[in-house]
Amino acid sequence: MIPQRCHASRLTFARFPELNVLIANAGISRTEDMTADGWDASDAEAIVETNILGVLRVTAALLPVLKGQPNATIIATSSNLAFVPRADFPTYCASKAFLHSWLQSLRYQLRKIPVEVLELAPPYVQTELTGAQQASDARAMPLDAYTAEVMQLLELNVHPRGEVLVERDRARRWAERDGRYDATYVAMNPS
Ligand SMILES: NC(=O)c1ccc[n+]([C@@H]2O[C@H](COP(=O)([O-])OP(=O)(O)OC[C@H]3O[C@@H](n4cnc5c(N)ncnc54)[C@H](OP(=O)(O)O)[C@@H]3O)[C@@H](O)[C@H]2O)c1
Repeated sequence: MIPQRCHASRLTFARFPELNVLIANAGISRTEDMTADGWDASDAEAIVETNILGVLRVTAALLPVLKGQPNATIIATSSNLAFVPRADFPTYCASKAFLHSWLQSLRYQLRKIPVEVLELAPPYVQTELTGAQQASDARAMPLDAYTAEVMQLLELNVHPRGEVLVERDRARRWAERDGRYDATYVAMNPS
């Protein structure tokens, strides 16, 4: 019997023989109140399923195709909440921290093949990720400005360590290194 994954890879290769980029961008975000009566792990399970297992599964399905291509790239979307969490989004932040770690290992393992592995770690952006109100939230970065800055970084090849970080990302990305982690955490999670 042919393993399902090999079958999926073969079908993909047959339909898209020049496929050389995977963008694993799908994600969901939910608040969770673990102090609430009746709290259960259903939201956490949905987040893990989409944000973590979704990325792993699509990577596993397409890697056999990508490995055979010149100039292949995998881009996955984490979040700058991977670096300092918001406590009202516990599993979401942890899922993005998982991706940040996992992508480093994937990048290392694929370095000699080679397949480039990039991590997109957006700040808060005007999309409908948490609902319609986010798309017009003035605190969020306008989507076209975010997209333009990312495209410029990609075109100029400015993604040290494989991390595509826009200017707004940097405070959280480097909070721990720069001794600002506790202050940043408190600012994001007021008591
Ligand atoms: N916006 C932000 O502030 C922000 C910040 C940091 C990171 N991110 C990350 O950026 C990525 C894109 O989010 P977004 O902000 O653009 O929000 P969005 O507009 O809600 O987009 C989420 C995308 O994920 C897809 N998706 C969700 N569950 C899926 C599933 N089970 N199977 C297949 N596709 C699924 C959605 O497809 P459908 O529309 O078909 O459901 C949609 O295209 C996510 O990984 C998110 O965590 C966003």
